[in-house]
Amino acid sequence: MSTHTERSREPAIRVQNIEKSYKELHVLKGVDLEVARGSIFALLGSNGAGKTTVVRILSTLLKADGGSASVNGYDVASQAGDVRESISLTGQFAAVDEVLTGRENLILVARLRHLNNPGTVADDLLARFSLTDAGGRKAATYSGGMRRRLDISMSLIGNPPVIFLDEPTTGLDPQARIEVWDAVKELARNGTTVLLTTQYLDEAEQLADRIAILHQGRIIVNGTLAELKALLPPAKVEYVEKQPTLEDVFFAVVGDNGSAGTTGTTTTSPAGTDK
Ligand SMILES: Nc1ncnc2c1ncn2[C@@H]1O[C@H](COP(=O)(O)OP(=O)(O)OP(=O)(O)O)[C@@H](O)[C@H]1O
Ligand SMILES: [Mg+2]
Repeated sequence: MSTHTERSREPAIRVQNIEKSYKELHVLKGVDLEVARGSIFALLGSNGAGKTTVVRILSTLLKADGGSASVNGYDVASQAGDVRESISLTGQFAAVDEVLTGRENLILVARLRHLNNPGTVADDLLARFSLTDAGGRKAATYSGGMRRRLDISMSLIGNPPVIFLDEPTTGLDPQARIEVWDAVKELARNGTTVLLTTQYLDEAEQLADRIAILHQGRIIVNGTLAELKALLPPAKVEYVEKQPTLEDVFFAVVGDNGSAGTTGTTTTSPAGTDK
């Protein structure tokens, strides 16, 4: 269809008006987003907002009911095989084999991907994710953070240009989260495009070049951290200026308890102007 050069000018991910229902439950009501090559994009949303549904559609595990989406220039519906060769997916629940060692897990995936030197690939990834010492131990003995890092490193085998991370740090302690964040930053430094989903606002704030909030079936806000913060003018209280946090922006656009609230609008009245 399109040539290699045409494809490489396309954004890494393009989603246009995607709709998806599970029976009568209308989860995605026209989702649009674009992710530039080599950037980190965070899709934020409450439980049940539809983040995993978006990721499953983009990774060809699920068909959308309407709209279109492309990954690495390939259409997810008509070129699913090319999409699968362009991506890796680290799901919401770690896909590590507990009985194998970390190194054996990596070698297994490298063999499945028909690489010539699975041992070298495994050792390089163990080093890159600070798992060299733990590489010979069964994954069952790993901490949550180590398991997540192993999971992410497994998804890098074969150097896919686009990776999806569905809630990469849910359930991890603060130290393990920082380790995973470092691993994700390392990916982007190497030119990989990352789309991650998260419920943690600080995670998006730490990692993402752009942040989108999925709420009631639509993207209600999409921008850089600075753009999102600019949605809420600094609150003025007795000459002291307070910068809004991403959390303030999130609750202002989503509504205080994450369920009620505004849809389809990103404007809020400046705090401190109403007397
Ligand atoms: N296979 C399915 N069949 C029916 N309903 C589903 C199915 N998968 C998801 N849903 C529903 O669709 C909605 C969106 O689910 P999804 O898993 O995409 O949300 P999420 O944003 O990833 O949530 P979480 O933060 O809890 O992971 C939820 O209400 C969920 O119950
Ligand atoms: Mg999910």
